[in-house]
Amino acid sequence: MEIKDFINAFGVEPNYIFSAPARVNLIGEHIDYNGGHVLPCAISLYTEALVGKRNDENIRLYSENTKTEVIANINEIEYKPEQGWANYPLGIFYILRSKGYHLPFGLDIYYSSNIPLASGLSSSASILDLTAYICNEIYTLELDRKDIAKIALESERKFNGLNCGVMDQAIIAMAKKNTCLYLDTFRFHHRYIPLNLLDYSIVVIKTNKPRVLTESKYNERVEECQKALKLLKKYYIINNLCDLKPKDLPRIKSLLNDDLLYRRVKHCVTEEDRVNKFVLALEDNDITELGRLLNESHESLKKDYEVTGEYLDTICEAARKVAVGARMTGAGFSGCAIALVKTKKIPELSRVVAKEYKEKLGLDSETIAINIVDGPKGEILG
Ligand code: GLA
Repeated sequence: MEIKDFINAFGVEPNYIFSAPARVNLIGEHIDYNGGHVLPCAISLYTEALVGKRNDENIRLYSENTKTEVIANINEIEYKPEQGWANYPLGIFYILRSKGYHLPFGLDIYYSSNIPLASGLSSSASILDLTAYICNEIYTLELDRKDIAKIALESERKFNGLNCGVMDQAIIAMAKKNTCLYLDTFRFHHRYIPLNLLDYSIVVIKTNKPRVLTESKYNERVEECQKALKLLKKYYIINNLCDLKPKDLPRIKSLLNDDLLYRRVKHCVTEEDRVNKFVLALEDNDITELGRLLNESHESLKKDYEVTGEYLDTICEAARKVAVGARMTGAGFSGCAIALVKTKKIPELSRVVAKEYKEKLGLDSETIAINIVDGPKGEILG
């Protein structure tokens, strides 16, 4: 993305440049809407934006990726399916306006992203957080990083209709280089944990199979968990499914008397336990234990939560031939996996996975080495 691209799109010069990263979740999957702990980190793939102030009240948005432009009056923003990707940034303006923030002039924003779309790396939270960050800086709204995450979450839920948890918006807004965020999603408390992996690395492996039906399946899981919680609240004093302990599981099984609901609860309870064990293993630099927990998490998401699918299963199985552990990351239903692998073995991992994946499913996989990076940034152009 270059300044001349902005000038070509809008016919004026930009005043600012901003960026926000993508994320992976190391462990703690599908429990951020069940009051659990999650452990995401931001990765070196970015949504970038060049921004110019306008003299009127219009928001003019251009995407380099889709080559489409959308214009809306800042006071008359509505969700429209035909606005496609632009519903994400527009949602931020809508939520800020509905909360009474003063946005006295419009903006021209030129977006460009190298985050693969619909791949589980949170391209949507990245553009949401980026836009909230831009508004905060340019309109001096005095929001802190947690406020930015909350505005982005409200926008995703109310404007874009996904009943997601707060993990993606929080990590992208709050990320710190070379750390992961240990986040209590119920109390919204957090702690940064240094990611010291010795001579090991986390890599991202793309299935190159765009996710399908993710939103409806995701919302279905949310509803199943709500249903189980309602039933179990009759017997336990709990706020969330993640308040339950692994030792409670046999009793929960008989109380629920419903195999599907039981497996959903079992995933939440065991995943919460794995997150806490993962934190201890990180603090002890216990790479073998980290790998074991990654593998266990994937199996639980496959058998009990049923959100992996054959593309992610095949990638993870192949990756484990070289890596100490591998699991899907994000919402699932294809998308991306992560693997914990000896840094010098990354090329071997890439070859082994590519070969096996191609043979079994006829698709090309892609292994991406990543850095763990900071959250959104911006600067005034000189
Ligand atoms: C998506 C959602 C998150 C989280 C993950 C699964 O990325 O946006 O809130 O629920 O799926 O862990």
